[in-house]
Amino acid sequence: MNQITQLFNIQYPIIQGGMIWNSGYKLASAVSNAGGLGLIGAGSMYPEVLREHIQKCKKATDKPFGVNVPMLYPNIEEIINIIIEEGVKIVFTSAGNPKTWTSHLKANGITVVHVVSSSKFALKAQEAGVDAVVAEGFEAGGHNGREETTTLTLIPMVRRNITIPLIAAGGIATGRGMLAAMVLGADGVQMGSRFAATVESSSHEDFKKTIIEVEEGGTQLTLKELAPVRLIKNKFYNDLQDLYNQCPTTEQLKTLLGRARAKRGMFEGDLIEGELEIGQIAGLIDEIKPVAQIIDEVMAEFDQVKESISRIHF
Ligand SMILES: Cc1cc2nc3c(=O)[nH]c(=O)nc-3n(C[C@H](O)[C@H](O)[C@H](O)COP(=O)(O)O)c2cc1C
Repeated sequence: MNQITQLFNIQYPIIQGGMIWNSGYKLASAVSNAGGLGLIGAGSMYPEVLREHIQKCKKATDKPFGVNVPMLYPNIEEIINIIIEEGVKIVFTSAGNPKTWTSHLKANGITVVHVVSSSKFALKAQEAGVDAVVAEGFEAGGHNGREETTTLTLIPMVRRNITIPLIAAGGIATGRGMLAAMVLGADGVQMGSRFAATVESSSHEDFKKTIIEVEEGGTQLTLKELAPVRLIKNKFYNDLQDLYNQCPTTEQLKTLLGRARAKRGMFEGDLIEGELEIGQIAGLIDEIKPVAQIIDEVMAEFDQVKESISRIHF
């Protein structure tokens, strides 16, 4: 037991990060059933679609699960109302100001966690009254901070700044990585990329295959002028680079990005023109696996490495 397992009433301090187009109820319930905390990614769902996923998740697991709400998407009020109506007990907010919704959610008996990419925002989240913070380093897949602070440096700095439980994210996909994050001061970990390449994720099969093919250096953080996002270097990414060479305006970047690129890439499997979001750690992921196997392997490696560390001499 530790602060994170107690806070969520789960077996292992492993959280599956909410991921647009990748994390529906099948993934979330599989993670919760395996002893972690599964999150439904509301960012890519119309409100009524989210309601359906919450209802299906309740049928698929009797364990705690939550919903991730990136605040940069529309319909937030409707989404929050559905979460409350459906009796969801845990919400992870991201990409926005934690002050906006935390007190309302907490007044409705919900445990609130906010995702940040700096110590400054970790402190703001704590001041806003959240129950825990996810600190996400530069390595992470999906949208990210502009400051490029890596998980290795971010976690001890956030740890020093806040007193509430801390969850590390970005670059963690193994028991070894989880242990490292906890040695740096985290109480638990949030993994995204590893769970995107699972049998249960809702990602397109071709996207899953692409994740396991990505090698070290195969992703890059881009679009800092709009919302920084880490992408696989496919044709769309190269088109962006060509545009950057011409010193584009924000408008030109927006025009090239257009609409629904993330859905096109990750959900519909357009590997050429789509936006393919994944973390640097994809270079270490080489097999699509069922969630339960991943969690078993992560925990086995965590215990084994923890044990062997006492034998390190120099
Ligand atoms: C495909 C993809 C989509 C993501 N979408 C979201 C999202 O909708 N909301 C969010 O808060 N984080 C999102 N993230 C970030 C994850 O929740 C998680 O924090 C991150 O993946 C952790 O880093 P890792 O990829 O190195 O494991 C996404 C990540 C990926 C890979």
